[in-house]
Amino acid sequence: MASPGPNISSSLKETRTFAPPAEFSANAHVRSEAEAQRLRDWAERDPDGYWSTQAESLQWAKRWDVVCDWTGAPHAKWFVGGRLNVSANCVDRHVEAGNGDKVAILFEGEPGDARSLTYAQLLVEVCKFANVLKSLGVVAGDRVTIYLPLTPEAAIAMLACARIGAVHSVIFGGFSAEAVADRNNDAKSKVIVTADGGWRRGKVVPLKANVDVALAKSPTVETCVVYNRCDSPVTMTPGRDVWWHEAMAAASADCPAEPFDSEQPLFVLYTSGSTGKPKGVLHTSAGFLLGVSLTHKLVFDIKDSDVYWCTADVGWVTGHSYTVYGPLANGCTVVMYEGAPNQPHEDRFWRIIEKYKVSVFYTAPTAIRAFMKWGDQWPKGCDLSSLRVLGSVGEPINPEAWMWYHEVIGGGRCPVVDTWWQTETGAIMIAPLPGATVTKPGSATKPLPGVIVDVVDRQGNPVPAGEGGFLIIKRPWPSMMRTIYGDDARFREAYWSHIPGAYFTADGSRKDADGDIWIMGRVDDVLNVSGHRLSTMEVESALVGHTQVAEAAVVGKPDDLKGESIVCFVTLKQGVTATDELKVLLKAHVAEEIGALARPDEIKFTDSLPKTRSGKIMRRLLRDVAAGKVSTSDTSTLEDYSVLAKLREEDE
Ligand code: WTA
Repeated sequence: MASPGPNISSSLKETRTFAPPAEFSANAHVRSEAEAQRLRDWAERDPDGYWSTQAESLQWAKRWDVVCDWTGAPHAKWFVGGRLNVSANCVDRHVEAGNGDKVAILFEGEPGDARSLTYAQLLVEVCKFANVLKSLGVVAGDRVTIYLPLTPEAAIAMLACARIGAVHSVIFGGFSAEAVADRNNDAKSKVIVTADGGWRRGKVVPLKANVDVALAKSPTVETCVVYNRCDSPVTMTPGRDVWWHEAMAAASADCPAEPFDSEQPLFVLYTSGSTGKPKGVLHTSAGFLLGVSLTHKLVFDIKDSDVYWCTADVGWVTGHSYTVYGPLANGCTVVMYEGAPNQPHEDRFWRIIEKYKVSVFYTAPTAIRAFMKWGDQWPKGCDLSSLRVLGSVGEPINPEAWMWYHEVIGGGRCPVVDTWWQTETGAIMIAPLPGATVTKPGSATKPLPGVIVDVVDRQGNPVPAGEGGFLIIKRPWPSMMRTIYGDDARFREAYWSHIPGAYFTADGSRKDADGDIWIMGRVDDVLNVSGHRLSTMEVESALVGHTQVAEAAVVGKPDDLKGESIVCFVTLKQGVTATDELKVLLKAHVAEEIGALARPDEIKFTDSLPKTRSGKIMRRLLRDVAAGKVSTSDTSTLEDYSVLAKLREEDE
């Protein structure tokens, strides 16, 4: 882990506060700060009592014997001995309760096509696809890769896996063939579900063509199911590839939901860490489902009449937890939009809110900053009066963007919930409760009931209010990750070795005098580019994989729109000439290796990189060079001072 410096200093001074509107509080699930505090106190004093009461909201085939078994720490078991089926909780039980005609998914494709699925219709689709998977030999515990555009089929495929106890590994459609192959191999997937393509900015993203390249290097994958989304030409390999519509037409809609153990693995989701290849974060069934459904209800104050829209793709954890599992477990109506926010025009999101009367909207700061740049005329031309709660996730939201979101999108009347969490936490950990919490632009405010956090120094001692430190979580929680798939040693090392007995988030933060948390960003080598997690190491290894590159160091540079942009310092092999053409080639090479989301913004050629005497690249210094700052970092261990001076010259 890179050092965050002796102290994490915070210069943000934000004093505005926003109390929840009285009318909102009066009808909220949690109506006052006093009530929120009572819940926090209860959960802290009696975690088993709190969590078991909350778990009554799920449908169980067999009740649990033990709420939380932490004797094998850092491996938790939740609701030990209990049995349930995640897909039955998300679909069947709403139909059984007489809500089969309620709309589950309101889908809008980028070209403007629209489709809706009621809970009863969703049940049929999920059962059929579960039978398709069974017919392909998929049994409980097998891994299934899902590489689909953001269409209802993605949710159907995920829920079908859950129904039969298979473990899904969803890969974002923006990742490359290489990334798909790596993930297939790490998970040893048996089946991959994809589409011919998906619509993005008026073009077809060629998903099946990527899969064809990936499958040449994915020996465990036996079958590829292809959903025809765009009617674009694809090559079908006989014996391996089957059409979704053909398989579905032949499948029975009868697939009883078999109960599984609470700890049945539900999914693996690959995310970036500070070292090595992406890690497969493993989540299990009951605890995850409880975490996402409870937080979805409380943080967005979900009511039966809500039309809820989370803009995240299912390829990210936000799409898992808050597009699919949380809202569907709550029987909510979910909007799903396939494409880009500026297609065909910059008001697409606002048109969707107007059209479907969206009441709860959840998006990312990077998107909000893009909307600000495009101008107020776009949202102002649409009727956004249906909105009542606005959410933010993925990176720290700057107060300016928060204020714009609150005023221009929320008309000043909608509480803004800034939600802090991670792929690893499964569900929201720190966030306002919209009917209770006084919000502050830029603060995720307080931990949710049952989430015990602290801000500590390197030794694990709490730091005083107002001072920066590491954010840790001190008690297990139901939706916590269980391990890194196939690499338990890395799980222990990355999360449980820094501060004894506590989960290390790798985020810097500070607590203010009111106890509100301000997240200050990652303290490791993880980049946050447009809310997407990437590791500097992944980009570096893609670069050094190029035949002309000797060495590379990658750092993030603050970026007004994307949060961070990717700057690469590259030394070339002897005899290779540094040209602008080569920069273009290297950028394309990284995009090909990882995906377009990792395309470097800048490449700087240099003769050598600053290193410590032990040979470690000093990324802190490079970050300062990239940002054009005079470095205040400690250079006492720098091996060759002249390297740094030269880098600066080259920059001028
Ligand atoms: C950052 C996304 C500040 C943080 C759910 C975290 C945030 C990483 C916030 C996890 C927020 C997420 N305020 N920072 N509200 N939400 N982050 O795994 O650095 O893609 O560690 O999960 O995003 O990213 P991930």
